[in-house]
Amino acid sequence: MTAGGGTGVHTMNDESGPSRSDIRNYPLRCWWVAARSEEVGRSMLARWLLDTPVLLFRTLAGNAVAIENRCPHRATPLSLGRLEGDEVICGYHGFQYDSGGRCTKIPSQSHVPPSFGVRSFPVIERPPFVWIYLGDRESLAAIPEPPRLDWTEDPDFSYVTGHMTIAGNYMLLKENVLDLTHFGYVHAGTFGISDWVNPPEVSVDDEVVTYRQAFTDSPLAPVYALAMEVPSGTPFNRNNWGSFLSPALQSGGVDFKNASKDSAGRGNYRIRVCHATTPIDMHHMEYFWAFGRDHGTSPEMMTQLRGGIMTGFNEDKAIIEAVQQMLHRVPFSESHKEVHVRADTAGVQARRSLERWMAREERRT
Ligand code: FES
Ligand SMILES: [Fe+2]
Repeated sequence: MTAGGGTGVHTMNDESGPSRSDIRNYPLRCWWVAARSEEVGRSMLARWLLDTPVLLFRTLAGNAVAIENRCPHRATPLSLGRLEGDEVICGYHGFQYDSGGRCTKIPSQSHVPPSFGVRSFPVIERPPFVWIYLGDRESLAAIPEPPRLDWTEDPDFSYVTGHMTIAGNYMLLKENVLDLTHFGYVHAGTFGISDWVNPPEVSVDDEVVTYRQAFTDSPLAPVYALAMEVPSGTPFNRNNWGSFLSPALQSGGVDFKNASKDSAGRGNYRIRVCHATTPIDMHHMEYFWAFGRDHGTSPEMMTQLRGGIMTGFNEDKAIIEAVQQMLHRVPFSESHKEVHVRADTAGVQARRSLERWMAREERRT
């Protein structure tokens, strides 16, 4: 189906949008990114995910595991203790837990009640990410598995990853990456992409919201030209798209085509990107990203790419945190109605998709 947009500005109350509300707007029955693979090792990684204290580590066999980071004895974070073999020893009174969360030892007594332990959480590792499921086990089989990102396994591609914590509701980031008309303002001095003015086409297929934008013979921004090693301003056809695949993940890409080819005889270039957001709580998120391309793949170029992305994404972080602060003090209301324009179509459709995720969860609670 195509989600058309009107031509004008309109207002609406959209309850699923990020707001001052503390009412949960993230589904528990969904796979979320817990960490980048490289972050999970033989030291304990503590993270709050979906208002849940989570402890991640890698077993001696190399498997990423996740258990609740809260000792049931006196509520001490287990991450304050130590990892011995595949067992976590609480730093307060030494209770010991295996990688499945079962308590295996209480130093002050010989008996360990069989039911004593912490929750363990299903984990799927698909590099570059470790995914976690924090919902009820009964629903797990019905939840779509984390999507594969083919380009991370494509030998033509190199990619970089990053992570930042943002003081904002996770949907603010989703809406940011679904409306790239912000390029010319937020990233004017960094990415320098100034041709994204018109709203993209938006389609909704099942729960996946996709925007597409085609640029014809558009002069290459320096940020693109550098990696292709062609002069800035070289005209290229460019197809951009991005898909809200689930509340946890947005994936997208750019395909470049120059019919007359560049000096290296090459006319096609590809960029792929994904944005994974995991709520810490209603006002904070972990933001994980991966960015790959099939050109400019030397280690030096990739290091430079990572630095450039971090600079640009920190610009998004600053805006999102300012918006969150504003919404906290002056939320959308009758007197401050939210305003939507055509370029918000993908973001509004993503909210509706999220509403359906939440409704499904409600029905089965
Ligand atoms: S609080 Fe963990 S052993 Fe007492
Ligand atoms: Fe941005």
